[in-house]
Amino acid sequence: MSLLERLSVKRNTLPEKYMTMSEQEMVSRIQEIKDTLGESLYLPGHHYQKDEVIQFADDTGDSLKLAQLSAANTKAKYIVFCGVHFMAETADILSNEEQIVILPDMRAGCSMADMADIYQTERAWNSLQEVFGDTILPLTYVNSTASIKSFVGKNGGATVTSSNAKAMVEWALQQKERILFLPDQHLGRNTAYDLGIPLEEMAIWDPISNELVYEGNLDDLRIILWKGHCSVHEKFTIKNIEDVRAEMPGVNVIVHPECTFDVVQASDLNGSTKKIIETIEQAPSGTSWAIGTEMNLVNRIIKTHPDKRIVSLNPNMCPCLTMNRIDLPHLLWALESIMEGEIINLIKVDEETTHFAKTALERMLNKSI
Ligand code: 13P
Ligand code: SF4
Repeated sequence: MSLLERLSVKRNTLPEKYMTMSEQEMVSRIQEIKDTLGESLYLPGHHYQKDEVIQFADDTGDSLKLAQLSAANTKAKYIVFCGVHFMAETADILSNEEQIVILPDMRAGCSMADMADIYQTERAWNSLQEVFGDTILPLTYVNSTASIKSFVGKNGGATVTSSNAKAMVEWALQQKERILFLPDQHLGRNTAYDLGIPLEEMAIWDPISNELVYEGNLDDLRIILWKGHCSVHEKFTIKNIEDVRAEMPGVNVIVHPECTFDVVQASDLNGSTKKIIETIEQAPSGTSWAIGTEMNLVNRIIKTHPDKRIVSLNPNMCPCLTMNRIDLPHLLWALESIMEGEIINLIKVDEETTHFAKTALERMLNKSI
């Protein structure tokens, strides 16, 4: 490891003083910096963030809303993104040159986004083009690297989020005969099935063995699903649904579409974090709900709706570990680095990648309300 690399690792590591500081002190220092910086600081928080972080968020939202807000915000000089790495990259791509995007902890990645890299994607694309020619449009879930978004934009495709996946897949199939859907096979499968495409017309692309897994006739193939998944949402099972229905007769099961096909099919409803929140808000008092999504959000929904009986679909569920990396010490560290004029954990996507990644994101944002 070079000296430069060693120094950058050191700069990415939380200084000792924040590990021993009391919660009360961190809370008051964060508030003080927020008051001082005013509108020049913007703090978006994804719904899966911890309560200790969400209390300071200027806006909370799902991936789509946070992407839209980042694009709209031209006032803030500093965007301290409380979410995971791909979301901060998206904010950087959509914000202007002068704006500075910071991720309080660089270890806040996404295991799903890590399941597809640009080299695997280019290799897959070349193999698929050989078989299918120019009949494929690439779509990527926003939970992916900036390089993959850029690749998709360059090849005529777009990004999708769980809020608009249906409209985006529908649009993509009007452009080309088939789509390559990265990197979440479950969101891709659940969405395409919802649009009436049978499972027999879907295949898996395995990026490790570099092969198409499909038993049907190649002419019938319409959806090529990248073999990736969310390690949080894959933990909800059919057994969880059977158990909760037995324990809570009349319960409504609602899950995120990153859950497996079987789980989504066995549930009563599915949708993005936004849809889950709105559905519970609009549900009559006294109704019972089992929610299949990340635990920080489920616990928050439980707290805000004491008039409803709400449980996690999986009673042994943990929060998303990478989302949880953002905590009070890291948030304070990031904010104090701004005050000291020594920015840490800067997220900067290079110009060339930004150009086409923005194209892919804008194709989506122009179609989303
Ligand atoms: P949404 O916020 O789009 O529902 O996505 C959930 C998610 O997994 C974010 O990482
Ligand atoms: Fe990634 Fe899943 Fe965590 Fe979302 S919940 S950040 S998809 S690992």
